[in-house]
Amino acid sequence: MSASRTPCVAGNWKLHHGRAQATQLASALAQAPLAPSVEVVVAPVFTCLSAVNDALAPSHRIGLAAQHVHWEDEGAFTGEVGPAHLVDVGCTHGIVGHSERRQHFGDSDERVAKRVRALLQHHLKVILCVGETQQQRASGSYGDVLRQQIRAALAGCAPSAPNPSILVAYEPIWAIGTGLAATPEDAQEAHAIVRNALADTLGAEQAEISPILYGGSVKPENAQALTAQPDVDGALVGGASLRFESFTDIIAAVALNY
Ligand code: PGA
Repeated sequence: MSASRTPCVAGNWKLHHGRAQATQLASALAQAPLAPSVEVVVAPVFTCLSAVNDALAPSHRIGLAAQHVHWEDEGAFTGEVGPAHLVDVGCTHGIVGHSERRQHFGDSDERVAKRVRALLQHHLKVILCVGETQQQRASGSYGDVLRQQIRAALAGCAPSAPNPSILVAYEPIWAIGTGLAATPEDAQEAHAIVRNALADTLGAEQAEISPILYGGSVKPENAQALTAQPDVDGALVGGASLRFESFTDIIAAVALNY
């Protein structure tokens, strides 16, 4: 938490919720009295983006994220969705570099960097995910891993002025979907490493304004303690974002720190 950064809670719905469930949840969120101090974002599957955008319209303040993006706007790229098409359906954000995409779909640092640049060119906010494996944590190499992921993804996009569209999510892979969240202290240590890497890559001012979200088994019970840490500015939530109660409880818990 820091006064110079807007906290953000983003729900990554992954490959869950078809149109009916997605729009129902989005409508409920749009009508809920969510804490105004926290930026709220949801990331449904591609096929639900347009319907969810319509369902969110009454709120005027919940962001809409794609879970993935191609770097080209158009062309012979069967199966891909580019940034211009995301803008076209009302997206405000794009998630890039999630470990599931790196692991199962061969997303390299180089490709992640291209996606980051494409989103920023279209004035979409980037949620850049970084994080280490269990083995990298155990061997103590996680600091180097995080620094390398940040440098590789962002080196080519140094903004001329600090850019509020750059968010990072620290998601230790061993904590995703396992119920084993990082402790607040371990999260803080990793977030400080990420913020220093941001400063080295994009400058101190950018590092100061970029929210760094924690992701990996965030629940209503641990959200407040995690985001009470000085460099933890919100949460990227998977499983617990699929239900209205748990997601809004997380938003309320985070808001207690702001
Ligand atoms: P989880 O997923 O909250 O279900 O652990 C987080 C994520 O993958 O973004």
